[in-house]
Amino acid sequence: MTPLWSPEDRVNTDELFEAALVVRKNSYSPYSGFPVGAAIRGASGAIYVGTNVECSSLGLTLCAERVAIGAMVAHGETQFSAVAVVADTQRPVPPCGACRQLLHEFGPDARVLLGNLTGARAEFLSRDLLPEAFTAADLKKS
Ligand code: THU
Repeated sequence: MTPLWSPEDRVNTDELFEAALVVRKNSYSPYSGFPVGAAIRGASGAIYVGTNVECSSLGLTLCAERVAIGAMVAHGETQFSAVAVVADTQRPVPPCGACRQLLHEFGPDARVLLGNLTGARAEFLSRDLLPEAFTAADLKKS
């Protein structure tokens, strides 16, 4: 049985947060001044990173989580076990609604690890962040 906490898990988690902190430095967020970093652990164990990308047409903004999902899919993976998200927030940064939907698509059972720059952390199960999620099953007609 896998223990709820193990030194190995701590290493995995720290590695994911570190990757999110590093990629956050590349954020293109001149309009909000709010850099975000995200790092995803694909089912293969590989890490895919993303950061937010803004644009003068503000509504076109891409969130860090969705950029990381795109990187994962571009590398041929469609399932992930964990994602870490970091921003300079008072509480561990909560993913926006759109990102929750996309995270749910590829990792309903994934761990969602949230952090800020002071080291505060929180963890949720992806499906718990999107109750009554719209899924592929809902595309079936009655
Ligand atoms: N942002 C993310 O990248 N992820 C989130 O979950 C929340 C918001 C970005 C979008 C925008 O560039 C900036 O943070 C402010 O909303």
